[in-house]
Amino acid sequence: MSRSIAIWGATGSIGQQTLDVIRRHPHEFEVFALTARSASDQLIRSCEEFRPRFAVVRDHAVSELVSKLKGVNSKTAVLSYRDQSALTEIYAAQVTVTAVTGAAGLDSVVESIRAGSRVLIANKEPVVMLGRLLQDLIHKHGTAVLPVDSELNAIFQCSGGLSGGQFQPFQKIAGLRRILLTGSGGPFLKTELDALIHVTPQQAVAHPIWSMGAKISVDSATMMNKGLEIIEVRWFFDTPPEKIKVVVHPQGIVHSMVEYEDGSVLAQLGSPDMRIPISNTLFWPDRRSSGAEFLNLTQLSGLNFQKPDFIRYPCLKLAHAVARAGGTSAAVMNASNEEAVAAFLSSKIHFPCIARVVRESVERLGDHRVESIEHIQAADAQARIVARESIQKMSI
Ligand SMILES: NC(=O)c1ccc[n+]([C@@H]2O[C@H](COP(=O)([O-])OP(=O)(O)OC[C@H]3O[C@@H](n4cnc5c(N)ncnc54)[C@H](OP(=O)(O)O)[C@@H]3O)[C@@H](O)[C@H]2O)c1
Repeated sequence: MSRSIAIWGATGSIGQQTLDVIRRHPHEFEVFALTARSASDQLIRSCEEFRPRFAVVRDHAVSELVSKLKGVNSKTAVLSYRDQSALTEIYAAQVTVTAVTGAAGLDSVVESIRAGSRVLIANKEPVVMLGRLLQDLIHKHGTAVLPVDSELNAIFQCSGGLSGGQFQPFQKIAGLRRILLTGSGGPFLKTELDALIHVTPQQAVAHPIWSMGAKISVDSATMMNKGLEIIEVRWFFDTPPEKIKVVVHPQGIVHSMVEYEDGSVLAQLGSPDMRIPISNTLFWPDRRSSGAEFLNLTQLSGLNFQKPDFIRYPCLKLAHAVARAGGTSAAVMNASNEEAVAAFLSSKIHFPCIARVVRESVERLGDHRVESIEHIQAADAQARIVARESIQKMSI
């Protein structure tokens, strides 16, 4: 029997790859809702092909979407993100994929967990922001939450995910010594440090291995992406930050590893194609085809692993400190990073200023005990104000 699925951020890189996996298994899912920010041609094409019951966009795009869908598809009702009561039905879809970029995806993560959907989380920023609160929410509602992010999915597969049905999200891995979190190092792994001030947004989003949305591509170039993942792993696998080690692995074939107390190291390998972790979570605990190329081990030129250089990647060093501090500092780091990346992408600041903006916000706002989601949202809003002040000072 097919299961209803809601895809939040359906027009993006993860959203479209999810639809591609679904396209290969047409009888497994009924696409119930697709969401995006704007009424883009991509959203119209996806609504035409998958005929969801609902399409959700931000307020400004509702009337445009209604008129664009006329004559294309009369089955799809258009909703705004403000229609919270109407969204309740969508949050309760049997399966939810959260693939909005940034803190804007917070509601879709929280509400679908509350509604008891099976939630496949790609949208890492809300996990980083909420930390222990998310852990509490999942335990309270008994929701099945699975990680789509390739590194977390690799850890999932190398731990409880292997035991077919036994995995409990946000719980410890038994016998764990360390989690080895791999990252490619992004496009500037070998760029002269002095030249980083001149790199352009186009160069930063041209990731050597993965094809992703603009924000996460810049995060990969600064390695803030790995920093966010340290915090994501910290909560998802209930692991103290000192047991999480980042390893630079330029080929992007080993997606992360779990080292156990007996000396065993389990790794998950695969082509760098997000359809693999997407398919893994869509069908878990079964395995179905994803459309990704199979690895040809004898064709690989080699697999290299090296320590990260904290001078090249100051965001990674900062994230380590934030992971240890806990509290609201993770939300502050995340929000100021979102602001700094947006400023860099619109050529307002130089690439190395991203780390400076984030550091200033974290230092100025400090960290406070997390008490509620509203408390986190207030820290996020405050961090954006402080980050914009720094951006103003550093603007080109
Ligand atoms: N791409 C990857 O390979 C990858 C891997 C691991 C984890 N992730 C994580 O997955 C998430 C999505 O990444 P992505 O690369 O797929 O991003 P993306 O290509 O930029 O797509 C973002 C999606 O979110 C929607 N969106 C953006 N801002 C929004 C807002 N304010 N309100 C409502 N919808 C909004 C976009 O709609 P519009 O098209 O209308 O703007 C689009 O559908 C991120 O958290 C990222 O860190 C991505």
